[in-house]
Amino acid sequence: MSKIAIMGAMREEIEPLLAQVENLNRVEYADNTYYEATYKGKEIVIAYSKIGKVFASLTATILIEKFGCDKLLFSGVAGAISPDLKIGDLIIADSLCQHDLDITAFGHPHGYVPEGKVSIPTDKALREVAKQVAKQNGLELKEGIIATGDQFVASVDRKSFISTTFNAHALEMEGASVAVVCDALKVPFFILRAISDSANDEADMDFDTFLESSAKISAHFILDMVEAIE
Ligand code: ADE
Repeated sequence: MSKIAIMGAMREEIEPLLAQVENLNRVEYADNTYYEATYKGKEIVIAYSKIGKVFASLTATILIEKFGCDKLLFSGVAGAISPDLKIGDLIIADSLCQHDLDITAFGHPHGYVPEGKVSIPTDKALREVAKQVAKQNGLELKEGIIATGDQFVASVDRKSFISTTFNAHALEMEGASVAVVCDALKVPFFILRAISDSANDEADMDFDTFLESSAKISAHFILDMVEAIE
């Protein structure tokens, strides 16, 4: 039977999961807490990484290499780039890129380093499960490119750069680093985000206001997916 990792970046992103799961067992490891649990008979391991690409890479690696997870689902919030994404809307990544990875001084494209990839696709089968769950629950699910960077974006200029350079629909601070880890370790992965703000000059206030409610929307959807995964 498969063991499913569920990751968030912040405590608020995993608390709604911990409230719903059974047989919780806390494991302290590498300066973090991992929660082994079951949900509807499925084995899962839950953790939040802390914010940013480095912490997210560490946590994703540990979930796979130490806990033996063979699928990884990320649940959390994002800033909207597309004007049709409103607070609370759900978006799944079909691929992810690192908007702050920049060695353009050497003639390389934004988001690229030699032997790396600008864009990493998520697992198609998991995306299909998400679409089926959305349909069953009458929920709208957007799909698009998610751009990741070690910056909280609260500027229309930065947001337009990310939009035009990467054609991205939403942005956050962990997805692409999880993608790098899962791609290298050949573990199917899925990134879901509910919108908390529009990455503009009101983003900090919106984020504080909507973090909890949007994180809950994402977490509840992820649990429905765990149930639906074969
Ligand atoms: N996650 C949620 N909102 C964000 C923003 N504006 N920038 C970066 N990450 C985010």
